[in-house]
Amino acid sequence: MSEPAPPLIHQLAQQRDLVRRLQSEFRGRPRRPRPQYLQRLNADVHAAVAKLQPPGDDSAARVDLINRLQTLVAQVSSSAKLQPFGSSVSGLHSAGADLDLTLVTEVGAEMPKGVQSELVNRLAELLTESEQMESVQARPNARVPIVALQDKKSGLKCDICMCNMLAITNSQLLRAYMSIDERARSLCFTIKFWAKRRSVNDPYRGSLSSYAWVLLAIHYLQTCEPPVLPCLQALRGLYWADDPRRMIIPNFDGRSFDCSFCSDVGALREAMGTLQPANSDSVAELLVGFFRRYTREFDFVKGVSSIRTGSFLSKKEKQWTTKEAGVRGHLFCIEDPFELSHDLGRVIGRDTLNDVRSELDRASQVRAPTRPPAPAPL
Ligand code: CTP
Ligand code: MG
Repeated sequence: MSEPAPPLIHQLAQQRDLVRRLQSEFRGRPRRPRPQYLQRLNADVHAAVAKLQPPGDDSAARVDLINRLQTLVAQVSSSAKLQPFGSSVSGLHSAGADLDLTLVTEVGAEMPKGVQSELVNRLAELLTESEQMESVQARPNARVPIVALQDKKSGLKCDICMCNMLAITNSQLLRAYMSIDERARSLCFTIKFWAKRRSVNDPYRGSLSSYAWVLLAIHYLQTCEPPVLPCLQALRGLYWADDPRRMIIPNFDGRSFDCSFCSDVGALREAMGTLQPANSDSVAELLVGFFRRYTREFDFVKGVSSIRTGSFLSKKEKQWTTKEAGVRGHLFCIEDPFELSHDLGRVIGRDTLNDVRSELDRASQVRAPTRPPAPAPL
């Protein structure tokens, strides 16, 4: 029998000690922007987040689309079920965000690539024939075969991929993080919005996906002092990582991943609330801290941002020191929380790293406390 896990509160206190040690490695005390500036920025951020929220009937429209698509999918495979993932699940979708769906079958993730491609082609034909969807496009040869479409009724854009169990689970992990502290949601919305506005949100063009930016934001909130978020994958206890019933998820490529994490949001909120001192930063202060992290503190040469461990890993220990085939490089390393060999920054090349870093620099200029007026960050 293994040792019983220490109470949650003790584990969270240990995580705080780790963060204190991490913080001591950052050089120099951050200068605080003027209070008036922070107040204005905070009001702007809250107004922007409120404006980004989807309309009241958005959830119903998404459920309705899933149901209509499910009826069509049943004609291709009676056992296939459509499941949402991405921002609709994590709660980070703004008005008009696309709907990410994956098709899950009885045979689970063990579906050969050829069968997936065939399914994608058949599904695309059926969706076109239904006349309910437009711009239907099959991409049977993509790494994850998908059908892209737009719903005529709601106008929602939707991607359907095959057997992406890992994406369902990592979206649930993100949702758990977003439910622990309201500031996490606001910060992630703001960073996603900023990344889109500043054109650093396109992995096909050498910048980061929304998913990667959200991981960076969560990592910042885990490692600021005192932390706003715990590290859910490092906690131990019933149904958590060291339990025999831990979540081992097979993915579309035949590999399996340990996707265990503590999802007891109620217990976590309560325990976080009793730890002192509490982090009382406003979203504006957290935003300023996020940009400072990626302009002054993060070690782009040696470091890896890892929400799985709630700390920084080294490129050396990840063996991300050389460029592998099919990868632009390991220049801004972000570990996927479950697929540990996946560096979400591998889409970034030397030229695009400069673009991303200069946007981060530009945004961090907002903190200049002595030079009025500060440029707008968004
Ligand atoms: N995903 C992943 N691995 C990646 C990119 C994405 O597993 N390299 C999965 C994640 O589950 C993520 C989902 O795909 O939540 C959608 O990714 P993305 O479009 O980047 O994030 P969204 O939050 O859906 O962004 P948006 O609202 O802009 O659509
Ligand atoms: Mg999406």
